[in-house]
Amino acid sequence: MENLSNEQRTLDVLILAAGLGTRMRSNLAKVLHKLDGRPLINHVCLTATALAPRKIYVVIGHQGEDVTRAVFEELSEEHAAFVWQKEQLGTGHAVNSAREFLETADSTLLILSGDVPMIRAETLATLVQQHHNHRGKGAACTILTVKLDEPKGYGRIVRDDAGFFSRIVEQKDASEEEKLIKEVNSGIYCFNTKKLFSALSSVQNNNVQGEYYLTDVPALLREAGEDISLYQHTDAREVSGINNRAELADLERIISRRTISRMMSDYGVSFIDPKNTYVSESANIGRDTVIYPNVTIEGETIIGDGCTIRQGTRITNSRIGRNVEILDNCVITDSEISDNCTVGPFAHLRGKAKMEESAKVGNFVELKKTILGRGSKASHLTYLGDATIGEKTNIGAGTITCNYDGVNKHATIIEDNVKIGSDTMLVAPVRVGSGSVTGAGSVVTKDVPPDSLVAGVPATIKKNFKEAESETGRSESNTG
Ligand code: UD1
Ligand code: CA
Repeated sequence: MENLSNEQRTLDVLILAAGLGTRMRSNLAKVLHKLDGRPLINHVCLTATALAPRKIYVVIGHQGEDVTRAVFEELSEEHAAFVWQKEQLGTGHAVNSAREFLETADSTLLILSGDVPMIRAETLATLVQQHHNHRGKGAACTILTVKLDEPKGYGRIVRDDAGFFSRIVEQKDASEEEKLIKEVNSGIYCFNTKKLFSALSSVQNNNVQGEYYLTDVPALLREAGEDISLYQHTDAREVSGINNRAELADLERIISRRTISRMMSDYGVSFIDPKNTYVSESANIGRDTVIYPNVTIEGETIIGDGCTIRQGTRITNSRIGRNVEILDNCVITDSEISDNCTVGPFAHLRGKAKMEESAKVGNFVELKKTILGRGSKASHLTYLGDATIGEKTNIGAGTITCNYDGVNKHATIIEDNVKIGSDTMLVAPVRVGSGSVTGAGSVVTKDVPPDSLVAGVPATIKKNFKEAESETGRSESNTG
């Protein structure tokens, strides 16, 4: 089987994610901390899938159930498997937890760290390729390394006089001389799976931390006459590990800055104050849209061309059309706003709210799971929940859909060309027919037929516009 051509080798991935991450000083396991809105572990898993491995094994320990749940939000059960490491005795011990699944596998094992989230798939692909092509027969191990001006905290790559790999020494075990070495271990490696597990059996924990280091394996393999290859990468950011909150904040800023630069240069988006604006990498913004300071655009948000987003607004997982004006301090979550709408200031859209073309939502208006039809307006101080509102309807100031009876939520339907008077309470389930009007302060408890005026508490029908019209028509013709 060792004669398999290099290209044919099966790739498995193992991600180390069992540690608590003491230096985070957190109750949350480190790999569950979020970067660009997603847990660290999910960044790594998603990058790994781009290499189309046979399987991704995730070593879990601290809050393993939560880590599993997070991973399954992005990967299916056929792609990912979980391996428990109940006690965290070091990275070598972590890998050893997967022994029963991988020990006899005829594969290349790519090992990643759950706390190194910026690594790109292209870099990993090159690493795997170099590993397979090493001297025409493949290496036993290939280590992704990088040179750092400030290598403190990382394991150092010790080379022999000829420049070949000698061993990895951890920061805490390094001599003063070794601490000067700038080339560090990224914690990302390729191994011949069988050779890895064979050498792993000999790893001891006689080091400063009393841990079983995975980083001892390459030297053991070298001593056994195996080839160790080093792949020195140039982009240090890609392999920066997150060990504390300052490093997490650094990467968060790097990602957002990079995204904003790309949007300015490639998409033609204007940012008034790029340093004080946050945009997620998975968002998309159209040409000539202007983003004011302190705006946050999260998740898979799509914003069209020619929009204006004013100061202090947060938009999450939403879809905004073209020429939409969103004024200051709005919160928009999981919602959809069509072309030419205006929103805010101080508006709140959530739970799949939808504004159709040219609709308007004004200050202190909340829309939850509500469709506001084309050209309709809710300009002031209003709550619309579980409502479907037709076209060209006006919702007066202070209107409330009373959608919750304490147990269940109920729907309100308001048809086209309706005028809901100020301070109307719509006690759901209820329907207001097209062309109708509610008087100021009405409490509408029963369906309102089309073209009716209702008013009062509870509201009753005061007039039918169609009948009234035909009566005036008759009386007019009489006088005429
Ligand atoms: C490790 C490397 C170091 C390298 C650095 C790169 C070792 C001994 N050292 O150090 O050479 O420069 O990464 O970022 O490997 N983990 C487990 N189980 C354990 C211990 C750790 O799953 O028992 C996981 C952690 O959750 C983490 C990863 O392994 O995702 C790395 O562990 P960490 O303690 O952060 O190692 P470093 O000290 O950063
Ligand atoms: Ca680390």
